[in-house]
Amino acid sequence: MSTSAKTIGVVGTGVIGAGWAVRALSRGYDVVAWDPATGAQDKLHSAIERAWPAATKLGLFPGADQSRVDFASTPEELASRVDWIQENAPENEEVKRPLLRSLAAASGPDTIIASSSSGLLPSRLQDGCEHPERILIGHPFNPVYLLPLVEVVGGKQTSKATIEAAVAHYDDLVMHPLVVRHEIEGYLSDRLQEALWREALHLVNDGIATTEELDDAVAYGPGIRWAGMGTNLTFHLAGGEQGMRHMLHQFGPALKLPWTKLVAPELTDELIEAMASGCADQADGRSIAELEQLRDDYVLSVMRSLRPLDLGAGRIVAEREARIHESSAVQPWNEGADIDAPLELYSAVVEPDWVDYNDHMTEAAFLTAFGWASDKLFRFIGIDEAYRGAGHTFFTVETHLNYLREASLGEPLRFTTQVLGVGDKRLHIFHSMYHRESGELLCTTEQMLLHVDTGSERTAPILAHPAAALAAIAGAHRSLPKPDQVGHTIGVS
Ligand SMILES: NC(=O)c1ccc[n+]([C@@H]2O[C@H](COP(=O)([O-])OP(=O)(O)OC[C@H]3O[C@@H](n4cnc5c(N)ncnc54)[C@H](O)[C@@H]3O)[C@@H](O)[C@H]2O)c1
Repeated sequence: MSTSAKTIGVVGTGVIGAGWAVRALSRGYDVVAWDPATGAQDKLHSAIERAWPAATKLGLFPGADQSRVDFASTPEELASRVDWIQENAPENEEVKRPLLRSLAAASGPDTIIASSSSGLLPSRLQDGCEHPERILIGHPFNPVYLLPLVEVVGGKQTSKATIEAAVAHYDDLVMHPLVVRHEIEGYLSDRLQEALWREALHLVNDGIATTEELDDAVAYGPGIRWAGMGTNLTFHLAGGEQGMRHMLHQFGPALKLPWTKLVAPELTDELIEAMASGCADQADGRSIAELEQLRDDYVLSVMRSLRPLDLGAGRIVAEREARIHESSAVQPWNEGADIDAPLELYSAVVEPDWVDYNDHMTEAAFLTAFGWASDKLFRFIGIDEAYRGAGHTFFTVETHLNYLREASLGEPLRFTTQVLGVGDKRLHIFHSMYHRESGELLCTTEQMLLHVDTGSERTAPILAHPAAALAAIAGAHRSLPKPDQVGHTIGVS
């Protein structure tokens, strides 16, 4: 993983270009953008502003700053100033080919130029460009700042080194680069998406279903399965004990029945009207910006719910968290380092899946948030994936929460952590949760944790490095006043 600073060039700043800009900015990189449309600069700034809360929830790297974006006055100027060019002009060869040619002529021969095209052949796009071996497709998904998939497709002249550099680059942006091994139109995912979309257009055109009914047919069923397992593994499970083999025997013959129509319907005015008015009905007065926010919230929730299962995009969420931690300004404890009293290692905003129907944080969510604060403490003292992988961790055995004020959706939070005591195998801690802007204390928790050997499931002494860290922190926190809530019991008299 490369950690050096980069300047990313974003050419064409519509839906996808703005999405790339947010992804690069949230990674802590600089962006230089160019778009020929009047007002493009203002539009880009407001798109970044709209997407920033979602990008923040996914996690910002150190240095991430919405304002680190500059507009170039020509594509040539952009090409001369950046380390990587991502082209996002309209999906039209007549527009993209001359644009790529001028970007290639104005950039150094080692600057990679990736087109976000949804389906054009890279061999045709790179044809006639200087140093065509550094040109390829990097096809993302909307919203680019959240969805990890990017298809990497080389053309006939693309070098192996360019493909490898693209995989490394997108991995560095904490995405899931999927190398499409054979150059085909539409690549992999748009071949799949288009088959579904074509059938939807037929079903509306034939008056069989509305756009809403078709969306229900996805959202309440197969769509939920797709997020974690895709189509094939899902169908493997639909075949019972014998998996896909039985599935094919049972449903395979149906593939020959006229269930689907392989040729797209004519885009008549009536069909366009039926699709557009169907979607307008579904939007029910909500603006695109409102729907975007709703989409970002549920995409984040789905990705996060897959995290503990280490499935699909959930793996990327965990990876991003670990990498942000690695590169974060808070250096893990080491011998002789100054220790803040109390420690301040975690901040967050109240998430949509943390609140109840009143938009207030639930009891379980307070514990979740304090769990993250503990996780930050663990990482600070050297308890990470490797430590846990080697069979050592802390288990919480007692928790005492004191709720002082409710926290509402979207409110910014900061947490402090005080080590009250540490023994051979035990750790006594106290977290406080504050409103990050008003400074109000919202909730506290006092916890006792036991260090365990996960193999034997028995308590075991804390290993040397975290033990030394905890002893040092406990020493630095000894002079802190004991918080009022510590040691309270519940009673009526
Ligand atoms: N929208 C999606 O879901 C999606 C997903 C993946 C990939 N893509 C691909 O991304 C690319 C951009 O799509 P979009 O949805 O952002 O379109 P868009 O219409 O939102 O944005 C296109 C932008 O390109 C600008 N532009 C016009 N002519 C240009 C030129 N000559 N040079 C540079 N910029 C120019 C326009 O002013 C506009 O801002 C397309 O290739 C598309 O296939 C789109």
